[in-house]
Amino acid sequence: MEKKTFYITTPIYYPSGNPHIGHCYTTVACDSIARYRRMQGYDVMFLTGTDEHGLKIEQKAAEKGVTPKEYVDEIVKTFKKLWSYMNISYDRYIRTTDDYHIETVQKIFKALYDKGYIYKGEYKGKYCTPCESFWTESQLDENGCCPECHREVTEAKEEAYFFKMSPFAERIEKLLTETDYLQPKTRATELVNNFIKPGLEDLCVSRTTFKWGIPVTFDDKHVVYVWIDALSNYISALGFWNEKYNDFDKFWPADVHMVAKDIMRFHAIIWPAMLMALDLPLPKHLAVHGWITFNGQKMSKSLGNVVDPFILGERYGADAIRYHILREMALGADSSFSNEIMINRINSDLANGLGNLVSRTVAMADKYFGGTLPVEREEGDFDAELIAEVEELRAKVDDFMDKTQINNALAEIFKVVSRANKYIDETAPWVLGKDESKKARLATVLYNLLETIRIVSTLLSNFMPTTMPKVWEQIGAAESDITYENAGKFGVLPADVTVHRGEIIFPRIDVDKEIEELNKIIGSKAEPEEKADDGFEPAPVADEITIDDFAKVDLRVALVKDCEKVKKSKKLLCLQLDDGFGGRQVVSGIAAWYKPEDLIGKKVVIVANLKPVKLCGVESNGMICAADTPDGAANVIFPDQDLPCGAKLR
Ligand code: MSP
Repeated sequence: MEKKTFYITTPIYYPSGNPHIGHCYTTVACDSIARYRRMQGYDVMFLTGTDEHGLKIEQKAAEKGVTPKEYVDEIVKTFKKLWSYMNISYDRYIRTTDDYHIETVQKIFKALYDKGYIYKGEYKGKYCTPCESFWTESQLDENGCCPECHREVTEAKEEAYFFKMSPFAERIEKLLTETDYLQPKTRATELVNNFIKPGLEDLCVSRTTFKWGIPVTFDDKHVVYVWIDALSNYISALGFWNEKYNDFDKFWPADVHMVAKDIMRFHAIIWPAMLMALDLPLPKHLAVHGWITFNGQKMSKSLGNVVDPFILGERYGADAIRYHILREMALGADSSFSNEIMINRINSDLANGLGNLVSRTVAMADKYFGGTLPVEREEGDFDAELIAEVEELRAKVDDFMDKTQINNALAEIFKVVSRANKYIDETAPWVLGKDESKKARLATVLYNLLETIRIVSTLLSNFMPTTMPKVWEQIGAAESDITYENAGKFGVLPADVTVHRGEIIFPRIDVDKEIEELNKIIGSKAEPEEKADDGFEPAPVADEITIDDFAKVDLRVALVKDCEKVKKSKKLLCLQLDDGFGGRQVVSGIAAWYKPEDLIGKKVVIVANLKPVKLCGVESNGMICAADTPDGAANVIFPDQDLPCGAKLR
């Protein structure tokens, strides 16, 4: 019988700077899923790569005085080095500068044009000259300026090709709301409400203002702009409309595209529209995860090398880093990175939990039996319970992996690790070891522990592929013992198994000392000049004021009792607040980022003595305090929710 296939992809990364730990998440997550599927017997294609065209790359190369290709070649080397360091088992690496990809993109562009889905038009919009970027009205910052550099924009137009999206709106809405394409499906509402319901806008798909892109074959003033180039990688890498590979029929449609939330829209709307226009089958799942944040911001190079995966890996091992990021990120939410949380997690789960289980078990087999267990057995209390839990583990992990909930899969595995450590306490092998008549019982306990470790480490090898073979060596498992099939049943190791004491697999870390060291590294390696990576420049600090000036601003805690959208406005929400003084109504321009239900019941901070104004005809008595985020959104400040309404901020 032919093997079942499984095709999984990461986004292709912009090689505009070296990779950081934020980039690692998707790649490590996809790697773990790819490994898991291979272990289950699937024929897997795991694709990653780099998205190498565009203005930003052209500019960075010019700054360095090299050609764009020379520039990306260097950075791609670092990406590949990192993936090898993190033990990423990709099957194919695509570069959008590869000839075969260029050929496919050109053919796709032409086919869409011939079918009437791409047409020539005029791009009108707000143009930022220093950034050489067009912005739509809704992308501008609160002062109507460029969301990247916050300078003034001008009205401008440029000849461009457009991709018609509207013919696909209905099918896309169904895809998002009626199928399980989107994981988690809860994100469908925001996509439908923000992009589909207001009417899908045609997408600008070519540019004439820069050269570093794939030329449009029938109009060489134009280069293909961003998404048609980037998204096509998922099929060009299989050989669609090129001669390089011949895997399209075998692997398409993809089983999982995994992306972070900032590029969800492109994968949830534009990519399906492109495929529909090409009459191709749609991918089965789009798994969307949040960001790894640091101090509440999307992590980027600006935060210094301490979050450089190479540096962390050198200190704790690539597997510990893989484990930490996989364990922390829940699909659908952001995960906040902190050195302290990472070190504590390594200590508790890996050093104390798994590491201890392995070293205690192997040490006892060594001490009491010279490394080789006798074959006599005596069952006892707690055995059945442990064995049942261990034998059920694989099915639970399968289930979470099917739902792309890697953190939950790991949590299940570590529950069993804790259970096994508890079994050691319950059975007290050190007491059994003192009594010659209890040798058979002791051998049973140790065998059960070794079997538990075998199953746990087999499953874990998909997430921590470097360390687990060391565990197999220590517990005396042969290669043939380590299979998916054997991970579902107890009793695989030979009764007279021989263990081999080895190095400690995850050494315990001294938290305080390590944090101090890491802080020193932050100081020496931070690269503040790279801060613009996310397009986030903190707004300049305003002119100095006195404490009396500040005292004029009356900031208060208030509870959002009710909230609704202001009719005729896309930006405004109208909030009814309990301000501790009988209540008030405030209108706030945060509708793009918050739904009423996100705010109702929450305490917020308001400017309480602001002169009332009317916004879109609705009276507003005060202002909700919010912070700028790197992607130009507003982040409402939620104070301690136990503070009383009316509490004054100072
Ligand atoms: N080139 C596009 C993707 C095209 S896919 C057809 C791109 N590249 S990127 O390098 O900017 O980002 C690639 C992925 O890395 C995105 O999903 C992005 O969200 C993710 N991450 C970048 N920083 C991240 C974190 N701090 N945390 C989690 N993921 C992060 O977008």
